[in-house]
Amino acid sequence: MSNYDYTDALESLAHIRKLIPFTPVTAIVCGSGLGDIAALADEPVTLSAEDIPHWPCSTAPGHAGKIIAGRIHGRPSIILQGRVHYYEGCGMKAVTFPVRVLAMMGVKEYIVTNASGAVNTSYSPGEIIAVKDHINMTGANPLSGPNDSRWNERFPDMTNAYDPAMLNILADLGLKTGVYAAMPGPSFETPAEIRMLRLLGADVVGMSTVPEVITAHAMGMRVAVLSCASNMAAGVEPCHKLTGQEVLDAMKDYSHRVAEVIAELVDRI
Ligand code: HPA
Repeated sequence: MSNYDYTDALESLAHIRKLIPFTPVTAIVCGSGLGDIAALADEPVTLSAEDIPHWPCSTAPGHAGKIIAGRIHGRPSIILQGRVHYYEGCGMKAVTFPVRVLAMMGVKEYIVTNASGAVNTSYSPGEIIAVKDHINMTGANPLSGPNDSRWNERFPDMTNAYDPAMLNILADLGLKTGVYAAMPGPSFETPAEIRMLRLLGADVVGMSTVPEVITAHAMGMRVAVLSCASNMAAGVEPCHKLTGQEVLDAMKDYSHRVAEVIAELVDRI
């Protein structure tokens, strides 16, 4: 039984440390269908999430549950192929447990990828957006409940949750920047919800990432998020019915480009 607390994280950490040959400084989380990013790692050592004590296992399609340690352009890195989503029902502590362990491992940069719906109608499917801020519409916060001060302070500031230096690099690479709205899922949004999100200033919408970003920033890691629009959000194309399979298929097509952007970002950090 896991509580996803500090003691559990120490056990996970000890297990991972025994199996990987170096301390990673950069972590990369692969979003739905973006598992190909793992091919960036040289001399990879692959762990199965299910073998690591307390590590939450994703039930979502397109999330392989593998952890790969390797060097990306010489930089010691760890790649999480798969993540747990809030909609899977294990709670925010499970969703953010890997973030806790990575921060305790000494990871400095936490780079997240995800699939999203384009709320901003000037975007098109395939566009990769560097997230500059978020709106948390999940109705929950991963830091709620008793605070463990070994992990983070009670009231962390979120002004620069998205690392300005990494955002500059991504903008230099030609990416647009935008605001990500996190919805709880697992149903896609209604057209009325998308109109609301647009009024609130959101550019893209998804069902992940924000709980991890809140936790990673609170723990002092530098965060960058690459959101790849797999589809126009609900109602933008009124006759179009959204499906999970369509998201996965689209991301397979865009995965290579997302990996290229990550390689360039890691090169310039
Ligand atoms: N909405 C929410 N999450 C998503 C979408 C979307 O349209 N596309 C990919 N993930």
